[in-house]
Parts: sequence; C-alpha cells; structure tokens
Amino acid sequence: ETQILKPDMDGYARAAATLAKGQLVAFPTETVYGLGADARNDMAVARVFEAKGRPRFNPLIVHVPSVAVAKTYAVWTDEADRLASAFWPGPLTLVLPIRPGSGLSPLVTADLPTLAIRIPEHAVARHLLDTFGSPVAAPSANPSGKISPTCATHVEAGLSGRIAAILDGGDCDVGLESTIVGLSEGPTLLRPGGLPLEAIEAALGGPIDVYQSSDPLTAPGQMTSHYAPGAPVRLNATDLREGEMLLGFGPVEATVNLSPAGDLTEAAANLFGHLHAMDALAAQTIAVSPIPNHGLGRAINDRLRRAAAPRP
Ligand code: TXA
Ligand code: MG
Repeated sequence: ETQILKPDMDGYARAAATLAKGQLVAFPTETVYGLGADARNDMAVARVFEAKGRPRFNPLIVHVPSVAVAKTYAVWTDEADRLASAFWPGPLTLVLPIRPGSGLSPLVTADLPTLAIRIPEHAVARHLLDTFGSPVAAPSANPSGKISPTCATHVEAGLSGRIAAILDGGDCDVGLESTIVGLSEGPTLLRPGGLPLEAIEAALGGPIDVYQSSDPLTAPGQMTSHYAPGAPVRLNATDLREGEMLLGFGPVEATVNLSPAGDLTEAAANLFGHLHAMDALAAQTIAVSPIPNHGLGRAINDRLRRAAAPRP
C-alpha cells in the first residue's frame, strides 16, 4: 500500500529511509511530481521502470542539491556554468557527458555516455535531497505515456499500490516538465519545458539548435504519442463540433479554460490538471483553443501535440 507522507520532519525522515531501502517515493518539484529512487541502486532504479511501465531504453533525470555535487557526476563546461548560475535551482535539465566511475546505476542513463541532471527549486524536493544525502533519479510520477502529475492526487490516481510513498507538497507551480538542454555537442534544446527557450538563448548570448523530431533520436523519451488523456484531442479549434468539450485559452466560452486572461504562465500551471479534469468528465473529444507559440507556449503546444498524436 502507498503511504501518503506530510512534508514535515517525520515525513522527510520516512521518505529518506524509504529511498535508502531501495523503494520508490514520489515527491513534488516546481515542475511536476517526480518518482524518486536512489540513483546509485540498480534495484531501486529498475523498480522505477517497472512501476511506470517505462521502456528501459528511456533514461532518467538525476536530481542533486548543488552544482558542486552535479560536477561530481557530469563533465562540466563553460555553457553548463552559465546556464546553471542563471537558472539553477529551477526548471532546467542539462545533458552532459557522464563522469566515468560516477557510481550511478547504468540503468539511469540507459547506458548512454551522457547524463541528464538538474537541481530542483521546490523546497520539499530540496529538503528530501538534503535528508537523503544522495542523488535521486526521478522521471515524472505517472504511468508511461500518461499525463504528468502536478499534485499528489494525480500521482495516487496513476501509481497507487505500485510505489511505497508519496510526499504530498501540494500543487506544482510551473506545471510543465523541465526544459532539457543538451550540451555534449553544441547547445541543443532537447525538450521545451518550464524554462522558455528565449531565456536560455539570452543567457548563452545567441540562438541554439532546436531538436526536431525528424533528427536521429537524441532523447529516447521523445516518442510522439505521450501525455495522452483518455479522449482524442483536436488542436487549434476555433469552433466547437458535435460531442466536443473545449479546453479554452483566452476570452472564449469553454468547458474549462487554461487562462481566460490569455496568460501563458497561468496556462502552463493549469495544463495537466485541466487535462486530468477533462478526462474525469469523460469528454468524447477534447478540442483545444490555439495557443501562441512563444515563451511557455512552445512547451504547452509540444505537450498538446503529443496528446493529439495518433496512439500506438
Ligand atoms: O521536470 C522534470 O524534468 C521532471 C521532474 C520530476 O524533474 N522529470 C521528468 O522526467 O520530466 P521524465 O523522465 O518524464 O523525462 C525525462 C526526459 C525523457 O524524455 C528522457 O528521454 C530524457 O529526459 N533524457 C534523460 N536522460 C537523457 C540523456 N542522457 N540524453 C537525452 N535525453 C535524456
Ligand atoms: Mg515524463
């Protein structure tokens, strides 16, 4: 049975002890809830893939408390320095060459020569990392292919009975997964996310490459159908058809609205929760208003395209 833990001294101690035993603990970050495992323990990391039904070739992000610790696992560069000092802790993941002899389970990286690593900003995540004292591998805490969780209830709905505990820290502020930037060759946006591309380019002083899905599979997790709600999804809807419910954006009449004011930060924070809610309403088809493709809109549109993609 899955234990729900409060983020107090006792909750952190139990969560850290559970991780130390090789069991799984879901915990909040500012982006989405993560499904945490001791990143140095093969059994623990194997349980993550099992609990999510995640293919073993799709590597995990390692969460650490500081840049100093990150440097012990990844081979550092000037660009990594610039991005880490501008945006860590925060919704940014860096992909860097892994240090040989890192001690991390090879399952974490799916045997790739690179490591995805980030410092989360959420106070509960930081307390957990400090209490546990070791790196935590954590994908989003949802069954593979489903919508990422932005509150403890979402985690429970998807993974209850399959994981040891959930540390309940309330709602996630950002609501979209971290932005992933690859730095092992030229800087490349591998996944748009909670930190806008514009901010990254400003920090690096110029445009960076953007991974296109026609490129060879750099991020194995970039499978097209993902984030799928139960109902089919129709994008850029400016009208409403028979049997459809509208996920609105801006001043439109909608079943649920991501942001009546047309604010992309608010829309990002609401996106997964609203998709979960529309799932519960058992919509026949979910129509979605057009969303501008800049700032956080890039990541929102990426997730919506995956939600709308043909299902395997
Ligand atoms: O905000 C987030 O990033 C959340 C929280 C919990 O930190 N985590 C998250 O993890 O979204 P996940 O597993 O759902 O997505 C991680 C993505 C996957 O698409 C995976 O393929 C990619 O990161 N990834 C991991 N390691 C990689 C690597 N070495 N090279 C390229 N992509 C990598
Ligand atoms: Mg995920």
